[in-house]
Amino acid sequence: MGNEKTISTPPVIDKALYDSIFLKACRREPTDTTPIWLMRQAGRFMPEYRAIREKLSFLELCKNSETAAEVTVFAVETLGVDAAIIFADILLPLESMGVGLEYAKGDGPVIHRPVRCAADLQGLRDFDVAEDLSYVMRSIKIARAALKPNIPLIGFAGAPFTLASYLIEGGSSRHFENTKKLMYGDPKTWHALMEKLTQVTTQYLNAQIAAGAQAVQLFDSWVGCLGQDDYESFVLPHVRRTISGIESGVPVIHFGTGNPALLPLQKEAGGTVIGVDWRVELDRAWEQLPGVAVQGNLDPITLLSDPATIEKRSREILRKVQGKSGHIFNLGHGILPPTPVDNVKRLVDFVHRWRQS
Ligand code: CP3
Repeated sequence: MGNEKTISTPPVIDKALYDSIFLKACRREPTDTTPIWLMRQAGRFMPEYRAIREKLSFLELCKNSETAAEVTVFAVETLGVDAAIIFADILLPLESMGVGLEYAKGDGPVIHRPVRCAADLQGLRDFDVAEDLSYVMRSIKIARAALKPNIPLIGFAGAPFTLASYLIEGGSSRHFENTKKLMYGDPKTWHALMEKLTQVTTQYLNAQIAAGAQAVQLFDSWVGCLGQDDYESFVLPHVRRTISGIESGVPVIHFGTGNPALLPLQKEAGGTVIGVDWRVELDRAWEQLPGVAVQGNLDPITLLSDPATIEKRSREILRKVQGKSGHIFNLGHGILPPTPVDNVKRLVDFVHRWRQS
C-alpha cells in the first residue's frame, strides 16, 4: 500500500473561512485579534455534555453524527472561540483494526488485544478508513453546515507514536514500558507498525479534509517520553511521511507535550503550526520555530484558579509574542473536567480584548 494522496485538487474554501483569524494566523498573516480555541473544548467540563453522556456511551456519541456535530457546534457558540474541533477521538481508527477498543467507566480507554509482537501486527485488520470511519466524515459534514461561515472546523488524528503507545500498552500508560521494549528490542516490527499507522492516519486526515475540515491537528500527546535520538530514529520519519501525505494547502497543527527539547525535531518532521505545552516559555519556543506558526501554551490548571490569576498568566503569554504574527492562543494540553465554564468564557473574552486594552 502506498502513501499517496487520495485527493488531487485542494478543497475550495469560502472567502469568509479563508479570511478567518484562525486561518490567517496559521498562515502567519497579521490579525487584529489573537485567535483562540481550546483542546478538548467540547467535553466533560460542560454540564450539557455530561447530560448527553448520561444517555449515550462515549462510543455511541462518536457514532451518532448528529449529536457529535451538535456537541462540536455547541462548544463554539457557548465559549465564543475562533475555531471548532470535530467531536471524535484519536483512538477510533484502532477499533477498525480489530483490537477491541472500549472506553471503560472511570478507567479511560482499554485495548483488549494489544499488539506486542510481529504476529500481533500481522493479525491487524485491513480496512477502508473513509468507509469504516464514515460516521466521523458525516459529523464533519453536519457540523460544517451548522457552523458560522467564518469559523473553521479542525479535523484531527493521533500521531503514529501516540497511537502505537495505546495499541501496545493496551491503554494509557505512565512509563510506556511495552512500547519502548518493542521499539528498542525489535525495531523491525516497530517500524512496520509505525508504517501501518502512518498510512491509516494520512488517509483518515485526508478523508476529514474531503468531508469539510479546513485544518487538521496531529496529536502526538505522549511523544515527550522520548529523547532526541530516539525521536529522530523511531518517530520522525513516520511523522514526516504522515504530514507530507496530507492534502497540500491545508494547515497542519503538529502538537506534542512533555519535552521541549524535541521542538526543533518536531518542526523538521513537519507542520504549518507547532503546538507547544507550558513546559517551554512561548518566546523561547518561538525562537526555536522559525517559519511556522505557534499554538499554545497556557497550563490548563490555570483555568482552575480565579479570574485575576487567569488574566495575569494569559497576559504574560500574550506579551511574550506581542507584535508577532502567527500565534494561536490555546492551552498547553486539554481542558480538565473540573474546569468552571465561566473561567473558560472569561479567558476567551480576555484574549479577544487584549490588544484593544
Ligand atoms: O477537543 C475536543 O473537544 C474534541 C474531542 C477530542 C476528544 N479526544 C474527545 C474525548 C479530542 C481532540 C480528543 C483527542 C484525544 N483522545 C487525545 C489527544 C489529546 C490529549 O488529551 O492528549 C488522546 C490522548 C485521546 C485518548 C483518550 N480519549 C483518552 C486518554 C480518554 C480518556 C481520558 C480522558 O481524558 O477523557 C479519551 C476519552 C475522551 N475523548 C473523552 C472525550 C470528551 C471523555 C469521554 C467521556 O467520558 O465522556
